[in-house]
Amino acid sequence: KKNNKIKTAVLTISDKGSRGEREDLSGPVLEKMMLEVGAEIVHREIIADEMEEIKSALIYLCDHKDVDLILTTGGTGFAKRDITPEATLAVIEKEVPGLPEKMRADTISITPQAALSRARAGIRKNSLIINFPGSPKAVQECLESIINVIPHGVEILK
Ligand code: MTE
Repeated sequence: KKNNKIKTAVLTISDKGSRGEREDLSGPVLEKMMLEVGAEIVHREIIADEMEEIKSALIYLCDHKDVDLILTTGGTGFAKRDITPEATLAVIEKEVPGLPEKMRADTISITPQAALSRARAGIRKNSLIINFPGSPKAVQECLESIINVIPHGVEILK
């Protein structure tokens, strides 16, 4: 049987994180949870809330690296510099609305502010990109909500 581990990249999108002014706690939460379901972490990176940086990181991973799944954390809120959803929409070929819909639907009873995340998800080539909010708590709640449906989606994309 072929190696069917989900090759996962984690992209933390944070101005402060990228300057080393804030420890990235959310990326490691995503990694830990994915490792627990048998995924393989093939790439991790912290980048600033800059449209071109986010787009080129996503394009590089989808087009030039053998990555099944890209999880981003941060930049989904209302702050002026929050542009992760826009950068994601700019690079995907197909949108997958159901994943962020499920995240928000499942977690809004825990945290009403879940409604404030503009997270999106979509497909570019053979990779699935999913946005998550920035806090470790949000990442944990949101990934928990969709982690069981990711493997089947990724399998079909290969
Ligand atoms: N979703 C869940 N499940 N749990 C949370 O604690 N935090 C919210 C929201 N989504 C949260 C959540 C808050 S307070 C904000 S401002 C938005 O995500 C956007 O976060 P971001 O700008 O860090 O991406």
